[in-house]
Amino acid sequence: MKIPKRALLCVALLSVAQIPLSAIAADDVIPVGVDVTKPGAKIDRQIFGQFAEHLGRGIYEGIWVGPDSRIPNTRGIRNDVVAALKAIKVPNVRWPGGCFADEYHWKNGIGPRDKRPPTLNPNWGGVIEPNTFGTHEFMDFLDQVGADAYLSINIGSGTPAEAADWLEYLTTPQPTALQQQRAANGHPAPFRVPILGLGNETWGCGGSMTPEYYTDQLKVYARYARNYNSQQPMRRIAVGPDGSHTEYTEAVMAAWKNKTWAWDIEGISLHFYTVVKFPPTFKSVDFSEDDYATLLKETRRMYDLLKTHGDIMDKYDPEKKVLLSVDEWGVWLDKMPGTPDGFLEQQNSQRDALIAALNLNAFARHSDRVRIANIAQMVNVLQAMIFTRQEKMVLTPTYHVFHLYVPFQDATFLPVKFEAGTYRHGDVEVPRVDAIAAKGTDGKVWVSLTNLDPVRPVNIDLQAAGVKATRARGQTLSAPRFNSVNTFEAPETVKPKTVDVQARGGKLSLKLAPASVTVVALE
Ligand code: AHR
Repeated sequence: MKIPKRALLCVALLSVAQIPLSAIAADDVIPVGVDVTKPGAKIDRQIFGQFAEHLGRGIYEGIWVGPDSRIPNTRGIRNDVVAALKAIKVPNVRWPGGCFADEYHWKNGIGPRDKRPPTLNPNWGGVIEPNTFGTHEFMDFLDQVGADAYLSINIGSGTPAEAADWLEYLTTPQPTALQQQRAANGHPAPFRVPILGLGNETWGCGGSMTPEYYTDQLKVYARYARNYNSQQPMRRIAVGPDGSHTEYTEAVMAAWKNKTWAWDIEGISLHFYTVVKFPPTFKSVDFSEDDYATLLKETRRMYDLLKTHGDIMDKYDPEKKVLLSVDEWGVWLDKMPGTPDGFLEQQNSQRDALIAALNLNAFARHSDRVRIANIAQMVNVLQAMIFTRQEKMVLTPTYHVFHLYVPFQDATFLPVKFEAGTYRHGDVEVPRVDAIAAKGTDGKVWVSLTNLDPVRPVNIDLQAAGVKATRARGQTLSAPRFNSVNTFEAPETVKPKTVDVQARGGKLSLKLAPASVTVVALE
């Protein structure tokens, strides 16, 4: 094509700073190389765990509608929500909180439902807690989903005896009085409790305990909140750090290092939200690119935290016997206008899908230590997978990321080499591309590619040395805009589309849309 001289002159007169960034770099190519010869740790499927607290509409309406509801249900539990959660293969659900757990008295939530006492939920809106959804309903819900229990016991306002009784009620196969009560309530066989949380945020809503006071409590609870069923293993998770604070990490790990025959733990927890500061002010709808960039940068702090706490843990436990459970993570935004205080209801956008991918990638890269994680929270609360409104249900962009990542469950981590480039907005700079890879339990090499730039697409040349791939197949999650959301009126604005990448010139080439997450398998 002949370009008129006048046009060439115009381009020459533009300084580089005036040329839009998208014009300079739209066609640059980032080579991504997967190394299948150096497999790393298993990416434990438990890092894809969920969190369901008695908070707002998380349990009541979100999961529980009652057997007499016109909303299709199985023994009171919504069928649509169960089917959606089965599709993302939820490995575990943390329950009943959160701050709620430290005011929960389990005996209020067993026996005939019409006889259960109404109590209060002072943490979350001061509403009445009907105790309709209790131990048996939670276990039934898990059975329907196919997930493990991650039970948080009450250390803040409970007693060691109350916790010990709950564990006996749940786990003993012996004909004790508590086992008989369990049988009378409809479940003679022991329940499985594969993960037990020994308190929640005892540095905050769980009792504002000093690290020393908590470690003393921990020894008592780790001793008496026993698993009474040797056939069914249970991992105990101590309270660990609040974000970047290291006092709990040091204290709990030092206590573990000097543990006696009388107590033990298998993990410690980390809580970190993408929030910048409390109270949360960032909007979940109609937000600007400033907000977009700031929250992506904030999310990347997860890497610093995994390194900081991982290093402390290595000091006491170089063999990595104690796992890190990131059992509260996700973006925490300003509540949606018109929703009740304390219900933590926020929309969920394409940006939040990217935040989910960045966090999951961080956990995968640290999978030798991070072996449990729980996004906060599963339905209708914070960075939810699912929204419900009466009989309607919407899947969020974050749900779709969990769906795309199913092949990474229990896959073997593979190192990936790439130049990430930079996405710049104002003062904010973050790596433009993120990528992880793993060998799935299906034997295939899976790659996740994220383009954080909300304007520029990026071309990827994908290679895996030693793998003769002629194509890659998978799905991509992109959206009309970085702040696009799914609503009850337009539930499919953001949803995955199929990608099928053919080999050209010995390479697999694909284009990542702006602000997108793509997961492909090499074939
Ligand atoms: O997820 C909401 C709350 O955040 C939890 O109840 C608490 O543990 C944390 O502070």
